[in-house]
Amino acid sequence: MLRIEGLYKRYGEVVALSDMTFDVRAGEIFGFVGADGAGKTTTMRIVMGVLGADGGVVRWSGRPIDRDVRRRIGYLPEERGLYPRMPVGGQLTYFARLHGLSAWEAEKSARRWMLRLGIGARAQDDVLELSPGDRQRVQLATALVHDPDILLLDEPFADLDPVAAEVLTSVLRERAAAGNGPVMFSSHQLDLAERLCDRVGIVRNGSVVVCGTVEELRSLGPDRIAIDAPGVSGDWTARLPGVQVERREGTRWILRLADGADDQWVLGAAAAVGPVREFIRVRPTLTELFHPVVADEEQGVVA
Ligand SMILES: Nc1ncnc2c1ncn2[C@@H]1O[C@H](COP(=O)(O)OP(=O)(O)O)[C@@H](O)[C@H]1O
Ligand SMILES: [Mg+2]
Repeated sequence: MLRIEGLYKRYGEVVALSDMTFDVRAGEIFGFVGADGAGKTTTMRIVMGVLGADGGVVRWSGRPIDRDVRRRIGYLPEERGLYPRMPVGGQLTYFARLHGLSAWEAEKSARRWMLRLGIGARAQDDVLELSPGDRQRVQLATALVHDPDILLLDEPFADLDPVAAEVLTSVLRERAAAGNGPVMFSSHQLDLAERLCDRVGIVRNGSVVVCGTVEELRSLGPDRIAIDAPGVSGDWTARLPGVQVERREGTRWILRLADGADDQWVLGAAAAVGPVREFIRVRPTLTELFHPVVADEEQGVVA
């Protein structure tokens, strides 16, 4: 649905994007995950047309994205552009009207989102007077107030307290379930992406290094099984080719299987000497697998 195709962008000597390619499908929550400087904001700005690309194209339903499609996007920019000396309610109504809602619809929608995001009591307050967390809630409301069917949120969870993060999570799930357009957000938190996303793209140095469903990504990790077998003892796996003990927790063993090693040998060997109370495949978490990719400080390639 939304296709990012071979984007290339440089700022002077710094290559910010280099063949950035992925797609985001209707009805899904897509997590765009990477370290600071990996190229997330630059990509989103190009999608929104606030920044031009040096190469590549952004498509919506196969055609280059245009103004009409962009008007249907709820965008949360990284540089949070609120008017400090304008009351929250008035500000939201104003943004809704900019997107073509009537005065009455704009006010109704502003009120609805303020309540939903827990800032109903702040309607008359200037943004200036709000805590960073409440400001972030107002900013989210501006991305949602015109009832967009595509969401593009740059680090929406940054600065959010746990309660607001829960609300945002349910809003994102709702929007994706409505199925009109995709929900895409950027983050540097793999655990968050794992919990929330249908698909994840991991970005490093200006391009996506791996992209897929959470399950697909987890299956890229080493094959491991957990087996609880009170009867086994010693180095019982020694005669099982390609099987290595990763750790032991009491009678429970976590084993790592090399390519081609048969988990049924393991089960058979354990069952031959006693009961087997648990036998499951253990997938690594996205954090275990990709933390080094996302944690790397050094980003941006000097050409
Ligand atoms: N306006 C700019 N001028 C120069 N370099 C920039 C500018 N914006 C971003 N960059 C560089 O481009 C790279 C990607 O940045 P960005 O897209 O902001 O990454 P992210 O959002 O993932 O942190 C970084 O190396 C960053 O320093
Ligand atoms: Mg950014």
